[in-house]
Amino acid sequence: MDITILGIESSCDDTSAAVIRGTTLLSNVIASQAVHIKYGGVIPELASRAHQQNIIPVVDTALKEAGVTPDKIDAIAFTRGPGLLGSLLVGTSFAKGLSIAHNIPMVEVNHLQGHILSHFIDLPDSEIPHPAFPFLCLLVSGGHTQIVKVSSPLEMEIIGSTIDDAAGEAFDKCAKVMGLPYPGGPVIDRLAKEGNPEAFIFAKPHVKGEFDYSFSGLKTSFLYTLRDCVKEDADFVEKHKADLCASLQATIIDILLNKLIKASKQLGIKDIAIAGGVSANSGLREAITEAGRRRGWRTFLPPLKFTTDNAAMIAISGYYRYKQGMLSELSIAPVARLEELL
Ligand code: KG4
Ligand code: ZN
Repeated sequence: MDITILGIESSCDDTSAAVIRGTTLLSNVIASQAVHIKYGGVIPELASRAHQQNIIPVVDTALKEAGVTPDKIDAIAFTRGPGLLGSLLVGTSFAKGLSIAHNIPMVEVNHLQGHILSHFIDLPDSEIPHPAFPFLCLLVSGGHTQIVKVSSPLEMEIIGSTIDDAAGEAFDKCAKVMGLPYPGGPVIDRLAKEGNPEAFIFAKPHVKGEFDYSFSGLKTSFLYTLRDCVKEDADFVEKHKADLCASLQATIIDILLNKLIKASKQLGIKDIAIAGGVSANSGLREAITEAGRRRGWRTFLPPLKFTTDNAAMIAISGYYRYKQGMLSELSIAPVARLEELL
C-alpha cells in the first residue's frame, strides 16, 4: 500500500488540510479567513483564533473527502514555519494532539519548500508535468521572494532573495494605498488587464547581489507618484487605476524575470518553475512563458489552486521527508522566521 500523508497548513490566514496517497492528491480543503478583509491586512491574533475554529472541521472534511480514517494515515505533515507564530502554533499543536491520540508520527515541513514541491502533486484524473532536477524555482509569496536551485525534493539552495520587501508585499502595499481591498495581488491582476503597462514609469532597483531582489524602492516610487498626482487632482487614483495597476505589475514582472533569466544563463539550467501566491498572477505567467519560449526553457506553472497557501503542498513535502525517515519529535516548536529553520 502506498504511503498516506495528512498535511496541515496554518502559517498565515488560510486553514488547510489535505490527504495524499503516494504522490496522488485525495483531498485538499481550504478555509479562508474573511475576518481580515475589513482591516486591509492579516491581524495575527484574529488569524490564530480563526485557525482554532477552523482546524477540526477542515481536517475532518479532508479525511472524509479522501475516504480515509486516522488509522490509515502513515504520518502527519505540518507547516513548522516560516509564518505567523500564533497561526503556526495552532497547526503544530493540533498535529501533536492527533499524533498522540492515534500514535501517528509527525513530519515538519518548511512552508516555502512546500510551495516549490507543489509541482510534484499528481491529480487522480490529470497529469501535471514535473520539472526535472536540477531546476530553478522563482518563489514569490506574500512574505518571500527567492530564486531556489532545486536538486532533489530535499535538496534546495537559495541562490537569490529579496533584501527588503517581497513581490507579494509590493502588490499588497501598493493596492492598499490605492484603496483596493486585501489581498491586493489578485485585484491588481484583474485591473491591470484594462490598463496600459507603459503609462507610468517606476523606479527599478540596482541590487548588488547577482540574483537578489529589492521591492521597497518600487513601493516608495509608487507612493511618491500617487502623492504628487493626487495633489493636482483628488480623483487621480480613481481615473487612472487600471493604468497604475498595469504599470506597477509590469515593473514587478520585469524585475522578477531579469534576475531569473540571469540565473538560468549563469547556471545553465533551463527547467524553470514558479511557485507561491504571486505565481497566480496572469501577467507573470504569460511573461515567463514567453521569456522561456524565446530561450528554449521548459517552463512550469503550478495549477492555480496550488499557487496560494494549501495543505496539498505540505502533504507532498511530508511524503518525501517521511520516505527518508525524517520524523519530528513531539517536543518540536514552530518557528516564525526562515533563518531559524535552516
Ligand atoms: O503564498 P501565499 O498564498 O502566502 C504566503 O506564503 O505569503 O502568497 C500570498 C501573496 C499575497 O501577497 C497576494 O497578494 C499574492 O500572493 N497573490 C497575487 C495573486 N494572487 C495572490 N499576486 C499577484 N497576482 C495574483 N493573481
Ligand atoms: Zn505561502
